[in-house]
Amino acid sequence: MEGVVLILLLCLTFGAMLGVHGEDPYLFFDWKITYGTLSPLGTPQQVILINDKFPGPEINSTSNNNVVINMFNQLDEPFLITWSGVQQRKNSWMDGTLGTNCPIQPGTNQTYHFQVKDQIGSFIYYPVTGMHRAVGGFGGLHINSRLLIPVPYPDPEDDLTVIINDWYTSTHTTLKKHLDSGRSIGRPSGVLINGKNAKGDGSDEPLFTLKPEKTYKFRVCNAGLKSSLNFRIQGHLMKLVEMEGSHVIQNEYESLDVHIGACFSVLVTTNKEPKDYYMVASTRFIKTVLTGKGIIRYENGKGPASPELPEPPVGWAWSLNQFRSFRWNLTASAARPNPQGSYHYGSIEITRTLKLVNSAHRVGGKLRYAINGVSHVDPETPVKLAEYYGIAEKVFKYDLMPDSPASDSPAEIVVQPNVKNLTFRNFVEIIFENHEKSMQSWHLDGYSFFAVAIEPGTWSPEKRKNYNLLDAVSRTTIQVFPKSWAAIMLTFDNAGMWNLRSEMWEKAYLGQQMYVSVLSPERSLRDEYNIPDNFLVCGLVKDMPPPKPYTI
Ligand SMILES: *[C@@H]1O[C@H](CO)[C@@H](O)[C@H](O)[C@H]1NC(C)=O
Ligand SMILES: *[C@@H]1O[C@H](CO)[C@@H](O)[C@H](O)[C@H]1NC(C)=O
Ligand SMILES: *[C@@H]1O[C@H](CO)[C@@H](O)[C@H](O)[C@H]1NC(C)=O
Ligand SMILES: *[C@@H]1O[C@H](CO)[C@@H](O)[C@H](O)[C@H]1NC(C)=O
Repeated sequence: MEGVVLILLLCLTFGAMLGVHGEDPYLFFDWKITYGTLSPLGTPQQVILINDKFPGPEINSTSNNNVVINMFNQLDEPFLITWSGVQQRKNSWMDGTLGTNCPIQPGTNQTYHFQVKDQIGSFIYYPVTGMHRAVGGFGGLHINSRLLIPVPYPDPEDDLTVIINDWYTSTHTTLKKHLDSGRSIGRPSGVLINGKNAKGDGSDEPLFTLKPEKTYKFRVCNAGLKSSLNFRIQGHLMKLVEMEGSHVIQNEYESLDVHIGACFSVLVTTNKEPKDYYMVASTRFIKTVLTGKGIIRYENGKGPASPELPEPPVGWAWSLNQFRSFRWNLTASAARPNPQGSYHYGSIEITRTLKLVNSAHRVGGKLRYAINGVSHVDPETPVKLAEYYGIAEKVFKYDLMPDSPASDSPAEIVVQPNVKNLTFRNFVEIIFENHEKSMQSWHLDGYSFFAVAIEPGTWSPEKRKNYNLLDAVSRTTIQVFPKSWAAIMLTFDNAGMWNLRSEMWEKAYLGQQMYVSVLSPERSLRDEYNIPDNFLVCGLVKDMPPPKPYTI
């Protein structure tokens, strides 16, 4: 009897050491990252391919699967991908941001190994190094419900990935040079749907061929750099069923504003005249509207898509109202990482409020973006490694950034690694205030949060009475409209080092991101895994022996 228990304990410990649970299935991938030449907007240009694909292959997983990706970097530059929305419970080691991981050097490989534990939903992955994200390396990441868990809609005929993004015709090196020399990357050149833009001259191949009288699931994500996109399908309504990990009240929409980093699952029924139709994605909130198109074809359909595209909505008040229509379906079952904290978030006492104000600056004539007066830079030693090896003080200072900005438009900013010390299991409210004239979109790694409010103007404590404390959607990105604020709430119960970033990549690259360090006081394997074997190390910790692992 004791022997059995011991073996069981050993298995559990071993499983925990690997950061996995032995009983859950594995998905193995070998990914080859290369340059390629494609002409998404008609002129040949350099793109980044994953296994020769652009956008990259989708990861189709099921809750609790172990995902193992051996990634071979065949570019001429260091490269790293993050799995946006994968919560990496106890495992920020696999988050793939520059604060947690060393980039994969050219000609070498690294194995990501993570478990999509207690999650469902539609997400994306994308590169975090340089401006690689501008030219590819992104794709869809889906987590399906396990078979025994009921899903609040009938099984669709098929599950289709729709990646929409604004697009530049410059190379990533040129875009990076612009930013490094203190200039903006300017306006995008076009909009793509799954890496293409239909010409509309009869020569376009359909992106999807669909059977008539069936219902399909489309997972639509905005993997772009800076443009919110309105997505719509000629002649078809979309029934929204899920966003970034939560089943939602199933309203029907003619179009959806998909902000940078955001993902939606919609159901579309092919019950119209059998022919071609355009899916349309067009830029929002900028004067010159750029439009991308892709064809869906009815099997045995007759006739091309009408050149008349459905009109986009106008103004951002429309978009704000749409946000307010998103409600969590409280009765739908689905895996979620923190069930105890999930249902009654509205009645948990807030222990800390962070008010984060984004701003743009010139430092020595060069453009920088900041949060509360701090513009982040990634030190050569990832901040997580510095902390874990006990040499944080040689690499960064905690809490340079105040919980609330001293001034809404600081005259001076600090350009330093921005790492905030948060207390394990605190229930925190984060206010994002955007005083700028441009859109903002934020993403937090390691968690999902309740998106409780977005309103015009500035935030004050009285605004809490306007929060949705009942059925706000638990998700991983939130947009903030110009001159507006947004509020989210969450329990910081996932130990690790987590990136909070502007999804507008130009802004993130020039400093509008930060890390939250969430340490478990017990230093226990129950709260956080040890550094994995074969983990890439770099910078100051390169030749240091790893600290004594946690054993319990
Ligand atoms: C994704 O995986 C599930 C479960 O294995 C499978 O039923 C489904 O057909 C797959 N979907 C796609 C689009 O490959
Ligand atoms: C690199 O790939 C090889 C061959 O597949 C594999 O054996 C090795 O573990 C990988 N290295 C890392 C650091 O993941
Ligand atoms: C919410 O989920 C339940 C349970 O699956 C489902 O029956 C119901 O239709 C959903 N409600 C709405 C309004 O979408
Ligand atoms: C982080 O905050 C905790 C209290 O929540 C404190 O005990 C700890 O010393 C802080 N760590 C640093 C590095 O500031």
